[in-house]
Amino acid sequence: MRKKVTVVGSGNVGATAAHWLASKEHADVVLIDIIEGVPQGKGLDLLQAMPIEKRDAYVLGTNDYADTANSDIVVITAGIPRKPGMSRDDLLNTNYKIMSDVVGKAVQYSPNCILIIVSNPLDAMAQAAYKQSGFSRNRVIGMAGILDSARFRAFIARELDVSVENVTAFVLGGHGDTMVPLPRYSTVAGIPITELMDKETIDRLVQRTRDGGAEIVKHLKTGSAYYAPSAAVAEMVESILKDKKKIVPCAAYLEGEYGINGLFIGVPCKLGSNGIEKIIEIKLTPEEQAALQKSADSVKELVSVIGV
Ligand code: NAI
Ligand code: 2OP
Repeated sequence: MRKKVTVVGSGNVGATAAHWLASKEHADVVLIDIIEGVPQGKGLDLLQAMPIEKRDAYVLGTNDYADTANSDIVVITAGIPRKPGMSRDDLLNTNYKIMSDVVGKAVQYSPNCILIIVSNPLDAMAQAAYKQSGFSRNRVIGMAGILDSARFRAFIARELDVSVENVTAFVLGGHGDTMVPLPRYSTVAGIPITELMDKETIDRLVQRTRDGGAEIVKHLKTGSAYYAPSAAVAEMVESILKDKKKIVPCAAYLEGEYGINGLFIGVPCKLGSNGIEKIIEIKLTPEEQAALQKSADSVKELVSVIGV
C-alpha cells in the first residue's frame, strides 16, 4: 500500500509541497484547508499532472479531516505568512490559534502519524504542536534547518562557482535572526569553507543566509518563500518514509542536548521511519555554543508568550 501524507494549508508552501511530494512519487497526498474550493481545485489539478509526469500518486483536496485519516505524515503549513516589515515573530498569536486547531483535528484522525511543522514562528509552533499532540518527541519535527542550510549552500556554490552537489552546510538554532550558520561544519567536497574563502566573504554569505527569508519577502511583497521551503519538506518526508536515516538540521525538542532543556531548536537529526531517531551532538566552540544559547533564549521568550 502506498504511503499517505496530509498537507494542512493549501497556500504557497502547502500546495508546492504537495507538488514535490506527488511528482517525486513519495506518497499519496491529501491537501486540506479551511478555504472551500482551493484545496479541491489544486488537488485535482495536481492529480491531472500525474499522467504527464508518469507518476502514480493520488492527490485529493478537501476541507474534511475524515479524508486525512491514517496519514503516515501530517505536514502543517496552515497560518499566515509575513509581509514586508514583519518578522516571523509577528505571526505568533495568530498562528498559535491556527496550530492548536489543526493539530487537534489532524491527530484525532491520524493518531500514529509523524508531524512536520512548517508554520512560523517555526520553533514556537513546533513546541505548540508537540504539547497539543501529546506525541513523543521523535514524532514532532520542525522544518527550517534544511531550508536555511540550502540557502547557505546555494550562496557558497555561487561564490566558488562549484556544483551545489559538492556543498554541504549546517545552520543550527532557531529559525529567525539569531540562527547559527556553522562555517566550520560547512564543506565543499569535504573541504571546510574556512579553507576556501576569507573571513569577510564567509561573513557576507552568513549574513545573507540569516536574511534569506526577508530578502525573498522584500521581492514578493505579498508573502514569503515557498519553493525551497517545500523542497525541504519533501526531503524530510522522503527520509522518513524510505527510512533513509539522513542527517539533516531540524527543529527538535531538546532534553538536555547542547545544554538546552524543554525547548525546540534546530540541531542535526537523523530522520528515519521513527521520525527523529537520533539527535547528533557535534562539538561547538564556546562562541558557537553561546550563539546557540542566545538563539534558544529568543525561542524561549516566544514560547513563554503563548505558554507552551
Ligand atoms: P499562504 O498564506 O500561502 O498559505 C497558508 C494557508 O493556510 C492558506 O491557504 C490558509 O487558508 C490556510 N489556513 C489558515 N488557517 C487554517 C486552518 N485553520 N486550517 C487549515 N488551513 C488554514 O502561506 P504560505 O506561504 O504557504 O506559508 C504558510 C506558513 O509557513 C506561514 O506561517 C509561513 O511563515 C511559514 N513558512 C515557514 C517556513 C519555514 O522555514 N519553517 C518557510 C516558509 C513559510
Ligand atoms: C523563510 O525563511 C518565511 O520562514 C520563511 O523564508
